[in-house]
Amino acid sequence: MIIDELDRLVEKLDLERKVRLLTGATVWSTHAEPVIGLRAMVTSDGPVGVRGEGWDERSPSLTLPSATALAATWDEDLVERLGGLLAAEARRKGVHVLLAPTLNLHRSPLGGRHFECYSEDPLLTGRIGAAYIRGVQAGGVAATAKHYVANDSETERLTLDARVDEQTLRELYLAPFEAAVEAGVWAVMSAYNGVNGETMSESPLLADPLKGVWGFDGVVVSDWGGVRSTGPAARAAQDLAMPGPQGPWGEALVAAVRAGEVPEAAIDDKVRRLLRLASRVGALDLDLPADDPALLPDLAAQRGHDRAPDLALLPDLAERDGHGPARALLRQAVAASTVLLRNEDALLPLDPSRLRRVAVLGPNAAAVRIQGGGSAGVYPLSVVSPLDGIRDALSGTAEVLHSPGAHLDDRPTPLGTDNARNPRTGEPGVLVRLLDAAGAEVHAEHRLTGRILEPARIDSAAAVEIRALLSPAADGVWELAVAGWGHVLLEADGRVLVDEEVERDTDDPATVHLSPPYRRARLTMTADRDVELVSRRRLDPGSGIASVLAADPPRRDAEVELAAAVELARTCDAVIVVVGTTEEIESEGVDRTHLDLPGRQAELVRAVAAANPATVVVVNSGGPVDLPWREEVPAVLLSWFPGQEAGHGLADVLFGRAEPGGRLPTTWAGRALISTVPEDGTLVYAEGLEIGHRAWLRRSAPPAYWFGHGLGYTSWSYESLSVPGDAVPGGPLSVRVRLRNTGARAGREVVQVYLSRPETGVARPVRWLAGYTLADAGPGEAVVVTVDIPARAFRHWSAGHRNWRTEQGAFTVLAGRSAADLPLSGTTLVGAQAPVQPEPIGERSPIML
Ligand code: BGC
Repeated sequence: MIIDELDRLVEKLDLERKVRLLTGATVWSTHAEPVIGLRAMVTSDGPVGVRGEGWDERSPSLTLPSATALAATWDEDLVERLGGLLAAEARRKGVHVLLAPTLNLHRSPLGGRHFECYSEDPLLTGRIGAAYIRGVQAGGVAATAKHYVANDSETERLTLDARVDEQTLRELYLAPFEAAVEAGVWAVMSAYNGVNGETMSESPLLADPLKGVWGFDGVVVSDWGGVRSTGPAARAAQDLAMPGPQGPWGEALVAAVRAGEVPEAAIDDKVRRLLRLASRVGALDLDLPADDPALLPDLAAQRGHDRAPDLALLPDLAERDGHGPARALLRQAVAASTVLLRNEDALLPLDPSRLRRVAVLGPNAAAVRIQGGGSAGVYPLSVVSPLDGIRDALSGTAEVLHSPGAHLDDRPTPLGTDNARNPRTGEPGVLVRLLDAAGAEVHAEHRLTGRILEPARIDSAAAVEIRALLSPAADGVWELAVAGWGHVLLEADGRVLVDEEVERDTDDPATVHLSPPYRRARLTMTADRDVELVSRRRLDPGSGIASVLAADPPRRDAEVELAAAVELARTCDAVIVVVGTTEEIESEGVDRTHLDLPGRQAELVRAVAAANPATVVVVNSGGPVDLPWREEVPAVLLSWFPGQEAGHGLADVLFGRAEPGGRLPTTWAGRALISTVPEDGTLVYAEGLEIGHRAWLRRSAPPAYWFGHGLGYTSWSYESLSVPGDAVPGGPLSVRVRLRNTGARAGREVVQVYLSRPETGVARPVRWLAGYTLADAGPGEAVVVTVDIPARAFRHWSAGHRNWRTEQGAFTVLAGRSAADLPLSGTTLVGAQAPVQPEPIGERSPIML
């Protein structure tokens, strides 16, 4: 048995060697231990792509749509295939452990990592997360369910203590992790925050329910820097402290074991788990008998990792054929996740044969935001903007004209291969030099961007310098910027523009390593007269190594910009306006304070829609933004952060080659009902079970769009619901829904089933999502689908009994297309002995709101 084999290996190691394995060897990888055939395991963020070991633009990644977009597909098959793509990417980059998916909930739309989480609903989050995990792990790569648990916002994320009552914790925040364990996840990441007084790397919740009741047999890895103690964290069920090689374990933990403060058995269990993970991802060379069937589950994965993987997509990931099928899958995912919120007079899809001149407007039309900010970020392999995608789609048939119409205050734009050259080699890009304390060069490399997050690591380096020849594309006053902690300097042709000490004021690794603050300067430049720019920053210990050199061209006056876009709109047959947020606004490490679109975008939309009635608005954001103008425009699409194939997927939807398949995985409102700001270090989840649509169902005024909403290109009629009249207490239930495609084109509907229980003795929402399935039908066709309701949907967590319980009696079953559009209902009596009156098939009881 593999268990015995792992025990045998653990026994071969002395305490020092065992403890050494429990802290990372580097920022991203674990230690090897040749004595037992253990190789180092490489971890990488996740979730939209596999960045690989380190942050390097020369190793770009296929970039998926954001988690919100994946959940908007409600399509587990598609998500599983995307997981397979990530496994192939991980293998290509030598990654064993992908630090994804993020299974925290949309407690509030203000949460900075909202885009990186799936949904406000625990069932949808669990199902989509499980599909992602299955896809990744089928390729022999570990997925990591993170961040366990209640890491649902960013303000004070390293230290906040989330106060969550037991029922809420079990029914909402733990539920997706439970689904991940059921899906067989190989790693779970403990969060930075605390829950009910215990920081998560020391929390009893790691032992129970995670490893105990749920039976998780994988590794609990800390969030980066999340282990803060020796004894308490080691005694808790925390297994691996990342990053390394420093950390609070190491020698201190050896001493704690020797002093009897931490039992050696606890260390052995952690090591055994680490070895099990290694065997699963192919990082353990076990000398095992070839055909012992008992070994198969783990060995299958192990062997898979070493030989050429058999994932269908992998051969196509080779650079030689331009990633064709992988890109096609990503393009399909963009269309499948795009949500059509509104479509008056069936403006969409647009008929290309009727278009001669099309205006593509908005700040995100050319500068599309494909992903959110923070550790989830990857360097995309390529990016198709909405403007590119629409141009491709209409090439040869219509003229496509562009004007941004509004400016966004964004992070300064790093130099790139389009505007800068390496002064030493003349190649497009920049020269990065590492200098020692005396200013002598110890290393030099050519890079493709002025945002250098990880130059080569060289111990003697005391400063990072970025040097480039900028060829200004326009005359006027340019905005230059440098970023870094410590002393920063910016020079243009030898003239000092910035010379400042930037004091580090945060411990948050995402800010320290990814987003050091900018220092700006203005410089008048002449088009095509090259200027030599030099940025230099001192490398203080603990202050990260990120360094940025950025330049933005002169901007048109805002009024002129707006007027130009409106004028273009007036003269075109159709207008597509792409508005949205930025990576800065929706980012790890910081929550939003409001949901307004930045800059003058609302004004732009209103002015353009007034100038041309054939206006389609595309909202390019990871999570909800306020759309106060939504009733003034005929069509609104949500593209989320759509990943690298943004423009092609969008064009497929706009011109009707694909359906906008998405349905809202989160309530879309212009304001948040729940705050993310802790008080005195404590964030009380006072709303209990009532987040998202559950909270809005208690209000008299509805949100802009309900959870589950999305129109697609056809129409549906819900004809009947068949519900078994009684249900076994504690058991699942299957209901059948008959619906008809009443439109003129084939389509797909997400059939949603909710439960409610008006008479109840326990805290419950008005209703809650209990199951869903996808229904495909041609024009005029009726289909009957079965929706499985898991037993858990009927249960509640009883804090008194410290267990799941099922209330006996009537539950109302509702079926339809969103949390508030549920035309069918039925009743089931849980635990009924006597026959009950089943709701006749075909009976409708619409819910009015
Ligand atoms: C984030 C994690 C991430 C880790 C490594 C942390 O700051 O919270 O989600 O996996 O960094 O980059």
